[in-house]
Amino acid sequence: MPAKVDMDKIVSLCKRRGLVFPSSEIYGGLASCWDYGPMGVELKRNVRDAWWKSIVHERDDVVGLDTSIMMHPGIWAASGHIDSFTDPLVECKSCHLRWRANEIEGKRCPKCDGELTEPRMFNLMFKTSMGPVEEEASTIYLRPETAQGIFVNFDNVITTSRKKLPLGIAQIGKSFRNEITTGNFIFRTREFEHMELEYFVKPGTDEEWLDYWVKERFDWYVKLGVRKENLRLRQHGKDELAHYARDCYDIEYLFPMGWSELEGIANRGDFDLTQHAKHSGKELGYYDAEAGEKYVPYAIEPSAGVDRSVLAFLIDAYDEEEVEGEKRTVLHLHRSLAPIKVAVLPLSRNEKLTPLAKEVFNKLCPNFVTDYDDSQSIGRRYRRQDEIGTPFCVTIDFESLEDKQVTIRERDSLAQIRVPIEELGKNLEAKLKGEAFDASALWATRQK
Ligand code: GAP
Repeated sequence: MPAKVDMDKIVSLCKRRGLVFPSSEIYGGLASCWDYGPMGVELKRNVRDAWWKSIVHERDDVVGLDTSIMMHPGIWAASGHIDSFTDPLVECKSCHLRWRANEIEGKRCPKCDGELTEPRMFNLMFKTSMGPVEEEASTIYLRPETAQGIFVNFDNVITTSRKKLPLGIAQIGKSFRNEITTGNFIFRTREFEHMELEYFVKPGTDEEWLDYWVKERFDWYVKLGVRKENLRLRQHGKDELAHYARDCYDIEYLFPMGWSELEGIANRGDFDLTQHAKHSGKELGYYDAEAGEKYVPYAIEPSAGVDRSVLAFLIDAYDEEEVEGEKRTVLHLHRSLAPIKVAVLPLSRNEKLTPLAKEVFNKLCPNFVTDYDDSQSIGRRYRRQDEIGTPFCVTIDFESLEDKQVTIRERDSLAQIRVPIEELGKNLEAKLKGEAFDASALWATRQK
């Protein structure tokens, strides 16, 4: 597999196969906004589900939450986002384009060579107004992170969940940032989806928990098939820590444009709970019955982007190989992430094959995300499924009418086995859970 693939190839595959489309395309598009197509929406959902499963469902020390995108504007004053969530910008006096000051070399505009202004701080939050009157008092912000919804609900969750610390609260949802420099496809956009966990711990145990979560999150990507050599950890220097962070590690991925942040894992200390207590006037602490003491917990925060993870999974899975003298493009996606798990492909549109093929499809689709495709040659249909990473194709041929067996073809090895239709569901379920695709054994079964 190539260590790196061109971003253009990923963008083109995504468009061709219905993974990701440019937003508002028939109107000429909207900068940095993308729409997820029929395959993309499944892939994205699978990424979210894999995160939720590992963070919430497979643990008894994390609960979930879903808070509103629009929140009281006082939250953003308390969290420091109104004062500190800013980038220094310079503006061209001729074409009025704005540039990040730290990305500009020299004093002229890279586009038109016009003179640039001195740097000014620019807040990255989108403003809107709530209610019928647009005035200062009705200004609210679209959330730039889901984390604050968690902090302001800390007390609600603690009192209703009856759980002890350490306790995590997890949330997945949209965030909005008026980023100055976007680009690299879905890597940095102005609307994106966050997967965030605030893991509340006793002060003094925070460093240990930070190490724990850094490892957990690194391993999550590896378990889902990302090659270890394409991942690395980087600790933030003191000068680059966010205003709320005591310490922070980035999990970086080797994207086509180079090593870049995939996820951040920060130790936010008691910054947020203390700030919200101060600004809201409500006490936000925890009584530790075992220790017999009261304290403000520290928060360890693994914060990942759904879209950025989707991009890393796509890049890592992408491969071009030669099969029987022909080029095939394939996504070696982890089975749990693949948009379609099984494709039912009758050998042809022959009227004798269709009823049995439909019967097989109807049997499978309540349990697996299944596609039915009977257009064009079987070879071309295999290639289409390979391009979206479908792990298994089930072919119905004329022999199937006689022996009530079908062929399963596995995406990566291209191995094929023949199984009775009766056992197909059970068989696929085991293989999707990771059972080896042992072609020889099954062929042997068939020969008996
Ligand atoms: N609550 C902490 C926080 O938001 P961050 O490092 O700004 O930290 C965390 O963001 C993750 O969210 C990033 O590692 C990235 O995966 C994703 N992310 C942030 N800004 C993004 C953007 N503009 N477009 C896509 N993903 C973004």
